[in-house]
Amino acid sequence: MGRKIRFGIIGCGVIAPSHANAIVGNDRAELVAVCDIVEEKAKDLQQKYNVPHYYTDYKEMLKRDDIDVVCICTPSGMHGDMTIDAANAEKHVFCEKPLDITSDKMTRMIEACRENNVKLGCVFQRRLMKEAIETKKALERGEFGKIILADAYLKYYRSQEYYDSAGWRGTWELDGGGALMNQGVHGIDLILWLVGDVESVFAKCETLARDIDVEDTAVALLKFKNGAIGVIEGTTSVYPAQDTRFEIHGENGSVIFSDSGFKQWRRVGDDTDTFPDVQIEKVGGSDDPTSISQLGHNLLIDDMISAVLEDRDPMITGESFRKAVDLILAIYESARTGKEVFLK
Ligand SMILES: NC(=O)c1ccc[n+]([C@@H]2O[C@H](COP(=O)([O-])OP(=O)(O)OC[C@H]3O[C@@H](n4cnc5c(N)ncnc54)[C@H](O)[C@@H]3O)[C@@H](O)[C@H]2O)c1
Repeated sequence: MGRKIRFGIIGCGVIAPSHANAIVGNDRAELVAVCDIVEEKAKDLQQKYNVPHYYTDYKEMLKRDDIDVVCICTPSGMHGDMTIDAANAEKHVFCEKPLDITSDKMTRMIEACRENNVKLGCVFQRRLMKEAIETKKALERGEFGKIILADAYLKYYRSQEYYDSAGWRGTWELDGGGALMNQGVHGIDLILWLVGDVESVFAKCETLARDIDVEDTAVALLKFKNGAIGVIEGTTSVYPAQDTRFEIHGENGSVIFSDSGFKQWRRVGDDTDTFPDVQIEKVGGSDDPTSISQLGHNLLIDDMISAVLEDRDPMITGESFRKAVDLILAIYESARTGKEVFLK
């Protein structure tokens, strides 16, 4: 076997173990160092995964010449600066969602990685759901005809204690938004990936149930560039949390799936559904952020390793990763101004 790809992790909070597990469980990877500004958190992760080194200053960690890839697992509003610093230190970057929380920062991150000739891989593990992959293939081969309606229902439950558990949660400065920018971004990425880019949006965003600055509930009306229309409903305040659900209707039939598998796959003229024959794994996370499946991170870390070794783009590039954030920013603008907002 060739050389191992060596990783460092910045941010040792809730999502970091998903990265650490994926790295230590991959025989082509090695976890060299972890970093958190809170020393205890860095030490805990270091000990749990037997990592040789820990840091409290990520810029010090970036000076190591035995790290190939840096995982960014810090609050969302820090992703941009840390990615740019890592790229300038000639490290490849594997960035948690969302890419960042402003359009300008995302542009600069992508540029910094390109200029330094390093890969920028991104975590949107839902694109690896079998249901999503089968739906994408069917839409690409035109199985349901022209798409007319495409909806994403993203109804999560996050308690006030969740928001109070870390100072950055539910803030404009570091979370960049609420139900859409933090949780809903997964499903928004998926509907864009499946159906295509959005031309314009009209939205309402409200803070109805939680003591936070950002929205806990939002509805957006979408017009896709391919002519279809649809809605996004996103919340973190409904109890019980619902499986996230995607409903895509074409002229010739419909596909509906949720976190617990396919609900409908039927073409005009059929009396029953014919579901693709694939093994479904529940993605989790709608009621508890610590319950997300490990599988997505394993596959994406493995893809990142291959991307570095084969000198190719990772499966989810920065350019495609940013689209969900650009759409969410347009939704916020529409809610703020009361106007339909057109995307570039
Ligand atoms: N892919 C997913 O399903 C998923 C799930 C949860 C979180 N996330 C994303 O992961 C990121 C982190 O979320 P979390 O829930 O783990 O947050 P968290 O608050 O639990 O962890 C963030 C960690 O970053 C550390 N940190 C802050 N500033 C730092 C700095 N300057 N240098 C080093 N460390 C620093 C904090 O001390 C904290 O330990 C967010 O962007 C979030 O959107 C993704």
